Amino acid sequence: MKLFLDSAYLNDIKEAVSWDIINGVTTNPSLIKKAVTAMREADGEVDVDMESYIKKILAAVGRMCPVSLEVAGLKADDMIEQGNILYDKFDQVAGNVVIKIPVCTVNSKGEGNPFEGITAIRALSDDKIPINATLVFTPEQALLAAKAGAEYVSPFAGRIDDRIRRKAGIPFEKTDYFPADGIFDTESPDRLVTDCELVSGVDLVAWIVDIFRQYSIECEVIAASARNPVQVREFARVGAHIATVPIAVLKSMMTHPGTSDGIDAFTNDLIDDYTALFETGGADTE
Ligand code: E4P
Repeated sequence: MKLFLDSAYLNDIKEAVSWDIINGVTTNPSLIKKAVTAMREADGEVDVDMESYIKKILAAVGRMCPVSLEVAGLKADDMIEQGNILYDKFDQVAGNVVIKIPVCTVNSKGEGNPFEGITAIRALSDDKIPINATLVFTPEQALLAAKAGAEYVSPFAGRIDDRIRRKAGIPFEKTDYFPADGIFDTESPDRLVTDCELVSGVDLVAWIVDIFRQYSIECEVIAASARNPVQVREFARVGAHIATVPIAVLKSMMTHPGTSDGIDAFTNDLIDDYTALFETGGADTE
């Protein structure tokens, strides 16, 4: 499974890239806002030159590592125009731009045409611009996006879990683990609480992976909206091609109290005869 960093914060991106385990980056308007807010808080009132900032991100991530940049419009024509603008302006930096298009732009009031996203995905992918279909909440949306030519689909696993917990009236912190097998309804304990017949975000990822495998669909599944390391483990188990993770989740994937206890024990047990091996010209001088 490839790992993408889910961030628009240049410092975090540079740090993660320095570990050489990151295969790409995903951004979205909320992540851009978060990054700009963090920079303003760190440096006082600064004017952010968005164009040069994004160019720095693309250069830091480098060739062969895709960086998703999202359009702002909701109509197919606007998304196509914006996708072309983003691609023309930025792909020249490192040849790694992927355009993120919402799979469906109907808003929560039900306004909009459900197929604007699909139309934009088809038009841009026909022009050989790589597309990441975002805000995927069902396997059907993923299937339609892949049929329209998307190179990637991004199922928002964590947000499915959030929706199920809200439906069940369960209070939660964003990073809380949610079981991949789902949770039972407290009122009818033999029934799982579902969102569109999905029992969890990992379930959504698994469905899409299975369907794409069944029909040898080449579109890659980016398991997105990751909340904690165990969820990333489950993304890997169900065969996600890629997991995109915030830096905090990436860092927490690395630590374990047992590892830290082991480090303490090994450090305490170091004897001088052994550490002498590492002193320049020390151990083998007679
Ligand atoms: C992925 O492409 C999205 O940017 C991201 O994973 C959304 O995560 P969130 O649900 O934590 O906002």
